[in-house]
Amino acid sequence: MKLLIERNAQDLSSTAARLVARQVLTQPRSVLALPTGDTPRGMYEVLVGLEQRGLLDLSHVRAFNLDEYLDLPEDDPRSFRSYMVRHLWEQLAAPPADWFIPSSNPADEQGECAAYEEALCRTGGVDLAVLGIGPNGHIGFNEPGTPWALGMHVVTLAEATRHKEAARFGGLANVPRRGISMGIKTIMRCGRIVLLASGEGKAEILARALLGPVTTEVPASVLQLHPWLTVVVDQPAAGALTTP
Ligand code: PGA
Repeated sequence: MKLLIERNAQDLSSTAARLVARQVLTQPRSVLALPTGDTPRGMYEVLVGLEQRGLLDLSHVRAFNLDEYLDLPEDDPRSFRSYMVRHLWEQLAAPPADWFIPSSNPADEQGECAAYEEALCRTGGVDLAVLGIGPNGHIGFNEPGTPWALGMHVVTLAEATRHKEAARFGGLANVPRRGISMGIKTIMRCGRIVLLASGEGKAEILARALLGPVTTEVPASVLQLHPWLTVVVDQPAAGALTTP
């Protein structure tokens, strides 16, 4: 595992974007797994800047989002699909033809999971996955207790996850109760993984994930077993890693 501790969230975003850019420059048809959330927003901004200056071409990548809410219209501004369009795809002069995000409102949920997994399989596998970490240690929407053997699957969101999103949804009652997520099995098969964590609020869970026992109770801890993991954090998130 490689650990990069950046001064602040801005430097974290630049470093994360550099890792993605390097992957795409070396392999323009790369398959990427991409996160949503507050942490990666700056990374997307930097990537858009690189594209606008003609330094990066994302038009050939195949991108798969990690997860999505369920029981929400796809075009709801709070859906992860809307997030990706807003922060990345519509900002690019040449967005990729192939980007995939699970439907937030599929007619057949199991069919949606199978189709997503199959689309991923057809690419030959993810070259680089960028992950965030939830305050409860989730990666994607793999909440504590999720078995590692799952591929794409329907999840019941943990209350901690729903609470975190309550303000965005105008109250806890409006936060979806379910999601759809790439499973740990699929994540662990990604060739390279970059884990991002920003802010003091992530310090304790990050330390548990990286230094504690590998357990389904802290889903991100499974990443300790991944052969190519780079963790990019800012100083506040690294707080519990560096204090004696
Ligand atoms: P955040 O989300 O970047 O908004 O903190 C991370 C996550 O919950 O996976």
